[in-house]
Amino acid sequence: MAVGILTGGGDCPGLNAVIRALVKTLQQKLPEEKIIGFLDGFRGAIENRRVPLTTKDVVGLLPKGGTILGTSNRDNPFKFPISVNGTLEFHDVSDTVIENLHKNNIEVLFVIGGDGSLSIAHELSQKGVKVIGIPKTIDNDLDATDFTFGFDSAVRTATKALDMLHTTAESHHRIMVLEVMGRYAGWIALYSGLAGGADVILIPEIPFNWDAVCRKIQQRKAEGKHFSIVVVAEGAYPEGGERVIARYVKESTDPARLGGIGQVVADHLSRCTGLESRVTVLGHLQRGGGPTPFDRILATRFGVAAVNTWLQGNYNVMVALLGGRVTTVPLSEGIKKLKLVPVDSELIVTAKAIGISFGDE
Ligand code: F6P
Repeated sequence: MAVGILTGGGDCPGLNAVIRALVKTLQQKLPEEKIIGFLDGFRGAIENRRVPLTTKDVVGLLPKGGTILGTSNRDNPFKFPISVNGTLEFHDVSDTVIENLHKNNIEVLFVIGGDGSLSIAHELSQKGVKVIGIPKTIDNDLDATDFTFGFDSAVRTATKALDMLHTTAESHHRIMVLEVMGRYAGWIALYSGLAGGADVILIPEIPFNWDAVCRKIQQRKAEGKHFSIVVVAEGAYPEGGERVIARYVKESTDPARLGGIGQVVADHLSRCTGLESRVTVLGHLQRGGGPTPFDRILATRFGVAAVNTWLQGNYNVMVALLGGRVTTVPLSEGIKKLKLVPVDSELIVTAKAIGISFGDE
């Protein structure tokens, strides 16, 4: 009997910390050669590309970013892209995954992933595969857990960027716009904006009003503050506008769609305030580097809890942090809903209390 581990979807700091925790806990119960890592996410499980994971392989892994197993974003075994006569077709190759799991005598598959990979894990569980999910994403947008690891590290990077933008904004009397990731959720923007002393935070959950944002910058100017810091979530959009995440748009005749909302906001604010503006798109820096202490600890707790869940004979669940405790929820619940920032959340109320504008009043 063996166990399988894979990391799927976009990477984030803390993946290696989970792999380390899984291996260190599992090796007390299994011979080391029975701990099998599939390479490059579900693609490795489809192609049966795998490596044994021993305690030697996880030495020094805790602070290391990325994933030693590799990952892939688009390799869904239920819709696997295959080129047939030059045309891309999507095939269900989930039976191949199941065959490979049998071939390797895998009793349980630990899937470390975001909503996409966990949904695949759930579909596999419907076909009889025993899976245990471990939630990760910098976006923190999984409703069934208070936090995903990776988020705190992304907030650290964005906050550091804001600290650096502050000094140059002040010297040049400019509006500095920082566009951060997060997909359809504004968690990274909200947390980094608060931690990094932003004047304006624009998030997808609160479509913003152009006049309100301009007013805020003009008001600062009238008070003698000739610079402003604006954090824009990549999914933010103006009232009455369409939510478009530029990185997901491959072709468009509208440059705003390709350039990203950060650039659109910077251009608009420059026009309406007469101040110079610059935009920084933080991009994949938010996914790079090592995990923060919080993420190292959360990833370790998740890894250990996932093994204990298996030892207790529990399957088709996801480990989760709820109310400060690590527990499990059914996988079906874990992937049900994305977690957005509640518009009346205490963090938003706090931010507004110190004068941060969300462009809604
Ligand atoms: O889900 C994590 C995330 O980093 C999002 O914040 C972002 O929109 C997306 O992945 C970027 O994906 P890719 O690596 O495919 O550009």
